[in-house]
Amino acid sequence: MPEECEAQTVARILKKMLISLKKVGRRISGAKRVWYALRPPENRSPSYWLIPRETWESQYLAGHWNYLGQLEQLARYSVIVGYIQHLKPGGSFLDVGCGEGLLREKLSLYGYSKYLGIDIFEAAIGKAAQRQHERTHFIRADADDYEPAELFDAIIFNEILYYLKDPVKILDRYTRALREGGIIITSIFAVEPGPSVLEKIKAAGYSVLDEVTTEHESRVVVHPQLPSRKVWICSVFVPASGRDLA
Ligand SMILES: C[S@@+](CC[C@H](N)C(=O)[O-])C[C@H]1O[C@@H](n2cnc3c(N)ncnc32)[C@H](O)[C@@H]1O
Repeated sequence: MPEECEAQTVARILKKMLISLKKVGRRISGAKRVWYALRPPENRSPSYWLIPRETWESQYLAGHWNYLGQLEQLARYSVIVGYIQHLKPGGSFLDVGCGEGLLREKLSLYGYSKYLGIDIFEAAIGKAAQRQHERTHFIRADADDYEPAELFDAIIFNEILYYLKDPVKILDRYTRALREGGIIITSIFAVEPGPSVLEKIKAAGYSVLDEVTTEHESRVVVHPQLPSRKVWICSVFVPASGRDLA
């Protein structure tokens, strides 16, 4: 039987089991996600692979996110670091959704005047805090409502935009915290909803100063339905002049 048919058959059986178990008031933790992952791509919502917020904190503590530090992810971090060092050497940077501060680790301490990382999860910020320094700060904050208290040369959204409620609105809000000539740097995993988010940003009038696509043939399984060939799009945006950012 072809792989896709097999997956669909398993998904159907699993769904029946889930319905029967629900009827007798029982649940198997994680079973719904497995069923969802086994569905054919056309029946999945674009964000089927995104991890629900409620499981995130425990995943950080359990080390699930350690894969972000693996070799397969190096290309996108390197492109971002390259952009920062080429376009805003010695500048000040806000890293929104910084996780445990892996980008900061890859940035030379001498390459910036200030780095501020924010992340919603205590567990991630707790790990990041080990990288704290007089020019490096981490705070726990929800990017959806955080109001930066100062101006930055670049604001980085490294694999976070598709987790936010309204990515374009959020970019608009953060753009107000950019210095004159400031830039926004994004990295987006090229599986939906990533590319759609990128399209919305471009349609909203943010012009692309530069864009690089990195590809990695990976053996790291983050989600059973994600392709083994992983693609990330790293972009530098210049906010549209005259755009109403209120
Ligand atoms: C895929 S990880 C990327 C982490 C980091 N940028 C990196 O590439 O190493 C996404 C991060 O976004 C954070 N995040 C998700 N929603 C958030 C929100 N509303 N506010 C702040 N951080 C958020 C998560 O806690 C997680 O650390």
